[in-house]
Amino acid sequence: MKVTVIGSGYVGLVTATCLAEYGNDVLCLDVDASKIELLNQGGVPIYEPGLEEMIKRNRAAARLRFTTNIAESVAHGTIQFIAVGTPPNEDGSADLQYVVAAASHIGRHMNTYKVIVNKSTVPVGTGDEVRAVIANQLAQRGLNSSFAVVANPEFLKEGAAIDDFMRPDRIVIGCEDETASDLLHALYAPFVRNHDRILLMDLRSAEMTKYAANAMLATRISLMNELANLAEILGADIELVRKGIGADPRIGYHFLYPGVGYGGSCFPKDVQALQRTANENGIQLQVLSAVEQANLAQKSVIIHKINQRFAGNLSGMHFALWGLAFKPNTDDMRDAPSRVLIEYLLAQGATIAAYDPVAMTEARRIMPNATGLHYGESPQAVLVQADALVIMTEWKVFRSPDFAEIKALLSQAIIFDGRNLYEPQYLAKQGFEYYPIGRKQIYPANVSSTSLAEQSTEALY
Ligand code: NAD
Ligand code: UDX
Repeated sequence: MKVTVIGSGYVGLVTATCLAEYGNDVLCLDVDASKIELLNQGGVPIYEPGLEEMIKRNRAAARLRFTTNIAESVAHGTIQFIAVGTPPNEDGSADLQYVVAAASHIGRHMNTYKVIVNKSTVPVGTGDEVRAVIANQLAQRGLNSSFAVVANPEFLKEGAAIDDFMRPDRIVIGCEDETASDLLHALYAPFVRNHDRILLMDLRSAEMTKYAANAMLATRISLMNELANLAEILGADIELVRKGIGADPRIGYHFLYPGVGYGGSCFPKDVQALQRTANENGIQLQVLSAVEQANLAQKSVIIHKINQRFAGNLSGMHFALWGLAFKPNTDDMRDAPSRVLIEYLLAQGATIAAYDPVAMTEARRIMPNATGLHYGESPQAVLVQADALVIMTEWKVFRSPDFAEIKALLSQAIIFDGRNLYEPQYLAKQGFEYYPIGRKQIYPANVSSTSLAEQSTEALY
């Protein structure tokens, strides 16, 4: 099938490449000429495991091409995917300017039947807006070509995007046009050949499903984070509590890990946008407001722990930082909790040596003026003479380190772990003061727990 994908970011590139992998003839458009130039030279603008090889293979087979030529891209695909950004406006609502521009481009150039499939995350009613924009452009050109607008929200996770796309747990199609529905069923058939995972519904329900999913997941994480904070104060261990509740199939084990707050390009903006939609319709989503507030607070939990341990005196201190990306297996730093920590530590007059397996280039790009922030070439390199190690992303490479080496390189054997990578008991035995999230504090034999506990009498949260 001939398919056009508008937008060559995380979602657009993965969509285009996975569709090409099943033999479709895919043309990918972006208005960012430097991105398209890079792609046409064999480069990939984002880090996503497996993507580079897949792009290479499909480009070589001429099933996947990249362009900035709008007229060519509209002419190419009967199916036109829109996968452009929908970043937050100041008031939290979704900025639809890129979606509207993409729709307008289609209306300005289309001459035959097109199925416009919106993959971007958009507020309920955007499909109608897209339809109106295209109809308006056609009317201006004196044309009456038929077209269908479909909502097909994307549920992939960064870092696991190829797998999520190739083996989806569901494909939601919001469509009220039979021809379009048949085309999409045919396009997606190879992705769901063992199980029928296509959920056909009306356009508005499909648009809402995406926000509802992210709201539900964000709520789960925020509740777990609050329970972790409470467990810590009560002397309970959130890791045991997590296993205890996850065993209930109604709860399940997935997505139940407390940490430093959710980040990334989706949860923060989508939680806000759904609240905004509700407000515009005279409804308050009180649970979601609380989720958002809890998440903002959680992003500072490690800061509180550091302040408490060092009595708020961070000027002149030096920290090693493991992990910059908002989660492992991506270089995405949009709304990454590490940014809140970095900004705070630098403002206090501390310095940081950071290491991330893939996000350091992105970190340099988005924080070009962060004086006092340096990068190291390995996890070990950044430890030298640091007053403490802080872990913000649970990359696999951080999971089984040589603790004797860490101890020898740090100037103080202290670890603040925002992702609960290690066992507190074991770390104490290795001689570390270890501060995880929501777990019992166990001090090494040579550290006076009473003097540290005294420092910690002030309420944390
Ligand atoms: P992104 O910022 O990585 O990529 C968007 C791309 O669209 C950019 O390259 C930009 O230059 C391009 N673009 C903007 N206007 C254009 C136009 N008129 N024509 C052609 N290209 C244009 O964004 P993303 O992370 O891929 O997200 C895209 C959408 O998918 C958003 O609505 C997002 O909420 C949603 N989504 C994202 C993820 C994710 O994990 N990133 C997952 C599911 C859904
Ligand atoms: C999310 C949704 O999962 C995906 O379905 C949607 O399409 C896009 O948004 P993504 O943002 O890529 O995907 O990452 P995800 O794995 O969901 O993690 C989001 C944030 O939640 C990360 O900051 C992560 O560290 C945090 N998280 C996740 C937790 O703190 N605990 C968990 O148990 C899971």
